[in-house]
Amino acid sequence: MTDVVKLMKQEVGRAAANRVQSNTVVGLGTGSTTAFAIQFIGERLKSGELTNVKGIPTSFQAIVLARDFGIPLVSLDEVDRIDVAIDGADEVDPQKTLIKGGGAAHTQEKIVDSLADQFIVVVDSGKLVDKLGTTFLLPVEVVPMAVTPVMRAIRGLGGEPTLRMGVKKAGPVVSDNGNLIVDVKFANGIDAPAELEKTLNNIPGVLENGIFAGVADVVLVGEVKDNQAIVREL
Ligand code: 5RP
Repeated sequence: MTDVVKLMKQEVGRAAANRVQSNTVVGLGTGSTTAFAIQFIGERLKSGELTNVKGIPTSFQAIVLARDFGIPLVSLDEVDRIDVAIDGADEVDPQKTLIKGGGAAHTQEKIVDSLADQFIVVVDSGKLVDKLGTTFLLPVEVVPMAVTPVMRAIRGLGGEPTLRMGVKKAGPVVSDNGNLIVDVKFANGIDAPAELEKTLNNIPGVLENGIFAGVADVVLVGEVKDNQAIVREL
């Protein structure tokens, strides 16, 4: 990550953390941008500026970061509602439809982000695209025994699936839910994301895919202009 990208992620994470209010339940997303938001929420709690904030994690990474930064965690069994969720994205189109799952966490992220009264997306400007699927492959979480028929079905839909492999780990990436991740390339990008989201989830063996249509309420974009990091709302 270059220093400029890091700065954009940091400032957009801070802006989202500043929107969190006391006495609320906050969905804690996954990824390097949300990590800054979690850090700043923790700092606001520590300073006493915020009180009584509880986090709902979307991944093992979010659990670890929340513990590191002193945010008490609760599960979905313990709350009636989530006030706000903060999460990153891999691509954002002009309709605020997202591709997520770069960290293989999109299944739990979609559950938490969809339940929140307000879902705030935090991205650096490099994530904005005119059409989804043009800069990032679409992640699909698949039950391991179904990986071959699911990949066949995806080919039938015009996608080119690749099983995501581990880094510094032999074999495939295994999600927090014990499943595999297939990354799908669509040659000309994704024409109808909301339809494709449903079609993919209808394939037996697919747990969840990374298209988030109609979920994002607010998109905060970190940018650098004249050597200054600024945050704007899409
Ligand atoms: C994880 C995600 C992340 O939110 C997404 O990959 C963005 O990550 P980063 O903020 O590190 O760019 O969807 O599954």
